[in-house]
Amino acid sequence: MAEFVRICAQAELPAVGAVKGFVAGGREVCVANIGGAICVTDGVCPHEGGPLGEGLVEDGKVVCPWHGYAWDPHTGTTADDPDLRLTVFESKVEGGELQAKL
Ligand code: FES
Repeated sequence: MAEFVRICAQAELPAVGAVKGFVAGGREVCVANIGGAICVTDGVCPHEGGPLGEGLVEDGKVVCPWHGYAWDPHTGTTADDPDLRLTVFESKVEGGELQAKL
């Protein structure tokens, strides 16, 4: 079973309405702040591998910087292609750091 892994310090979390990319547990992850709710997803876009951590937040979705697919960071779905799914990780802020089960 996956253990919680440190993603970043609480002070490094993205501002409301922003995303940031981190490398944790040997993989790229995307951290999004959706109206104060922190979501952690795979950092690699399931479409063609774009860096979601360099994208932006629009209407509560994480928008990929490459082709603009808008991902729901809670469900991992996108209306741009119902067959694709972004991995969403369970996360928590504890002890001054963001942790996720990768
Ligand atoms: S690689 Fe992300 S939308 Fe194409």
